[in-house]
Amino acid sequence: MLVDTHAHLNDEQFDEDRDQVIKRAKETGIETIINIGFNRETIFTTLELIEQYDFIYGAIGWHPNDAHEMTDDDLQWIEELTTHPKILAIGEIGLDYYWDYAPKDVQQEVFRKQIQMAKKVKLPIIIHDRDAHQDICSILKEEGAGEIGGIMHSFSGSVEMAKECMEMGFYISFSGPVTFKNAKKPKEVATETPLDRILVETDAPFLTPEPFRGKRNESSYVRFVAQKIAELKEMDIEQIEKITTENAKRILRF
Ligand code: NI
Repeated sequence: MLVDTHAHLNDEQFDEDRDQVIKRAKETGIETIINIGFNRETIFTTLELIEQYDFIYGAIGWHPNDAHEMTDDDLQWIEELTTHPKILAIGEIGLDYYWDYAPKDVQQEVFRKQIQMAKKVKLPIIIHDRDAHQDICSILKEEGAGEIGGIMHSFSGSVEMAKECMEMGFYISFSGPVTFKNAKKPKEVATETPLDRILVETDAPFLTPEPFRGKRNESSYVRFVAQKIAELKEMDIEQIEKITTENAKRILRF
């Protein structure tokens, strides 16, 4: 049994066969999926999914790429939705300096406001960090995010950064890139991360693992990520499944 801790199954790429994709996940032993809603539209569609499927839970937040569009009403709305019993975390939130769609200062302010809100409602946070490692670490520290902890989604930082995040109560989540031949860093981080802090995810429909790299990703493929972690740790996949599932339940409290 596995948990896909990060998926976007509401994405339009699944409009033709969403039910089958979700059924396939269940049949191949994915016991829980966390679907991420990250702006007005995808928060609505995430709520629909968690109402429709008992094994899908949700995380909601405001993505840094849309940071310039978040209003105070949006933030208030997200806070109110956290009373839903199947909303387990605030996210994905963070900084994206790769696309740089929203000005950096706006991204940082929106990130800080959501950490403060997560502390208020006592939910863990799911972090999106793209080319913003240093500012992510500084803001998490300055805002006291260690009080709630959370998940470093599709972690792309160094071993040192992973350690810093773990000291603040964060878990390190791996996705497709750990299976890529040329990706040294995620393999190194996975090897060094203690078992009790490792999570697996797909980020479906994106970041498809080998052997399906280049095609659309789906939750059942989280198995290929777990398989690679098992190889790196020189363990059986069954052990990795059990440990990562326990980890997901501990941090997300379901
Ligand atoms: Ni995502």
